Amino acid sequence: MGILSTVKRRVATRLLARSTRKGIDLRKLRFLPDSTTMPLKRDVLDPLPEMAQVRAEAPVKRIAEMFGKGIWLVSGYDEARALLANGAALSNDLGQFVSQEGRDDSEQIGGLGMTDPPAHTALRRYLTPEFTMRRLARLEPVIERIVDARLDAMAEQGPDVDLVDQFAFPIPFEVICELLDLPVDDRARFHSLGAARFDLSQGGVGVFGAAAHTREFLIGSVAKQRLDPGDGLIGALLRDHGDELDDVTLGGLADGVFLGGYETSASMLALGTYLLAQHPEAMALMAGDDAAAVDRVVEELLRHLTVVQLAFVRFARDDMEIAGAQIKAGDVLGISLLGANRDPAFTPDPDRFDPHRPTTRHLAFGHGIHRCVGAELARMELRIALRGLARRFPDLAITADPAELDFRKLSAVYGVDALPVRLFDDQPATLPAR
Ligand code: HEM
Repeated sequence: MGILSTVKRRVATRLLARSTRKGIDLRKLRFLPDSTTMPLKRDVLDPLPEMAQVRAEAPVKRIAEMFGKGIWLVSGYDEARALLANGAALSNDLGQFVSQEGRDDSEQIGGLGMTDPPAHTALRRYLTPEFTMRRLARLEPVIERIVDARLDAMAEQGPDVDLVDQFAFPIPFEVICELLDLPVDDRARFHSLGAARFDLSQGGVGVFGAAAHTREFLIGSVAKQRLDPGDGLIGALLRDHGDELDDVTLGGLADGVFLGGYETSASMLALGTYLLAQHPEAMALMAGDDAAAVDRVVEELLRHLTVVQLAFVRFARDDMEIAGAQIKAGDVLGISLLGANRDPAFTPDPDRFDPHRPTTRHLAFGHGIHRCVGAELARMELRIALRGLARRFPDLAITADPAELDFRKLSAVYGVDALPVRLFDDQPATLPAR
């Protein structure tokens, strides 16, 4: 970890120093101003009470100024949805503020999430065929196999295990390695790199450093597979579009899928288990045979937890007005997906986890042109993994107080880094996982 931190710091410092040449000093982002951190903080799983106060005052509110630009927090559902739908009015391109001069490949800022049309449209078109229901159906037995193996290993190791280490992290990580045909070794390294990618406690430093490191690995994997294409998504893209896509572009695409694919789903599995363990009725629904009820619980977990609590930062292209807010060209918008999904104008009693809540049009996967490309894969993983867990360990209990748990403090993806659980009191249940 020592060498890794040094490399990360070195790359990040170089990258951030370069941003000053474009007039914006991202180094100031080492510490986010207090007024901007509220949307990243929670009271265990709930937004802080300030979120509701701010939303009631103004669903689109100017909360700070940095580098001479207004910083706006969007916490209302209708406003968040409308802004996300209006791809033409906003830019995701953070790269425009960072000089490209002297850049090496792994330091390039990009990937789908930080790219605007027309490049975004072209890149996304490469990925969407790989995520159709037909393609995903082929992954289903793979996910089932991975989940069953984890459940067996836990039954053997239990009754006391760390659910993050034994279940929540390894399942999506192994799935995404299968999808991309990457070696599964080095899991621990990617666990810490993944968490660092979304951790804003040091502003840009950790995020950019960890990004450079992972991209280097993926660009290398693409170069290797170009010589000998694997069976996964990278190999398929190389076979079908190898002439159009260079290693860096494809490495960037793979990076979005890789990171999006394990960090977010791992948080959902950990926090989802935490919630289910406290709601026996929901746990029983997950273990039951009613597929529609299972779907409803999964959707309510997605809405209630909204692990991607803040969308990628957006910049206003032109002056605009929304909900009475006068936004200027270049202003920064923080769209709180958590704030939106917990807006009482969107769904009644929004802070209650209600496994019977009729399915909502929640924003846990975003909306508009950047909506999560892996949403259906994520849903499939959650259904299979949480259902298997509920069937195999229906009496699962959390063995730590919330105060003892290490919930992430300032991360765009909320989560917990360890979750001690007791899987069973005596013997594991004999119900089959499915
Ligand atoms: C429960 C798990 C997941 C959640 C909650 C989630 C959430 C999100 C959200 C909110 C966005 C949009 C961000 C924005 O508009 O600013 C997004 C984008 C994205 N997600 Fe996911 N995601 C999950 C799983 C996955 C998986 C499994 C994959 C890939 C296998 C994936 C790949 C991506 C990619 C590539 C984007 C960027 C899309 C674009 O910019 O066009 N995600 N995700």
